[in-house]
Amino acid sequence: MEAPVKPFSREQLPRHIAIIMDGNGRWAKNRFLPRTAGHHAGVSSVRKAIEYCGAVGVEALTLFAFSSENWRRPQQEVSVLMGLFLATLERETEKLHKNNVRIRIIGDRTAFARELQEKISAAESLTSTNTGLNVTIAANYGGRWEIVEAVRKVARQVVDNQIEPDAITTEVFASNLCLTNLPEPDLFIRTGGEKRISNFLLWQLAYTELYFTDTLWPDFDEAELETAIKDYSGRQRRFGYTGEQVENLFVNPGLL
Ligand code: IPE
Ligand code: IPE
Ligand code: MG
Repeated sequence: MEAPVKPFSREQLPRHIAIIMDGNGRWAKNRFLPRTAGHHAGVSSVRKAIEYCGAVGVEALTLFAFSSENWRRPQQEVSVLMGLFLATLERETEKLHKNNVRIRIIGDRTAFARELQEKISAAESLTSTNTGLNVTIAANYGGRWEIVEAVRKVARQVVDNQIEPDAITTEVFASNLCLTNLPEPDLFIRTGGEKRISNFLLWQLAYTELYFTDTLWPDFDEAELETAIKDYSGRQRRFGYTGEQVENLFVNPGLL
């Protein structure tokens, strides 16, 4: 992954971008194609997003590929999506590894076919010590599922006398969630025009900047991503402080 140009300064650049890749079905419908053609076309946008983020120096990219609710879709569409996931992992893992990308999958993988589960584990272990872009694919993922899983883990720790209920702070709780080793998403992007979270990273998006675009996922390219980052870089993140306090923080970061 070459990085010839760095169009953004460190402060302007989100460390972590999370994307709901939506609009594949409508992209296909607009072309009188079956919905699944949109999913196939969407893979090249995934490639572009990964390459762009690696090149400009984003640390983490988290992509929503399949929600825990997407099983409700027609069986044929679900099986095309599963096949595409498997084929893409098979085809791209080696190249991503060469580019120092670390791949991880979040979501309940036990529902996947054994072959897919094996490919996922193989891609994760092959790339586990890579130090470049962290790519996380959310597959059979739901924000509520993730929170309930974390509750289960904490409850077990309480039962095993490893922790007192009163010692469960937000930090302790969050350490049982997914993506714990990454900074929280700075920028959330949803393509396809809908303005909702659809059970994506419910906990982690608490202070994330939200960006919605009507562009359908297969049309989302480097230029669109650059536009989203530019929009983000012009925002003031306040985390509860006043605007004036935030401006002073640049002068006196110790106030944080
Ligand atoms: C997103 O595109 C891909 C998945 C949810 C797997 P959609 O398939 O939801 O596309 P639209 O929203 O129907 O256009
Ligand atoms: C969200 O898209 C999930 C993914 C992109 C994987 P959906 O298309 O499933 O979301 P809704 O149903 O429109 O909220
Ligand atoms: Mg959709």
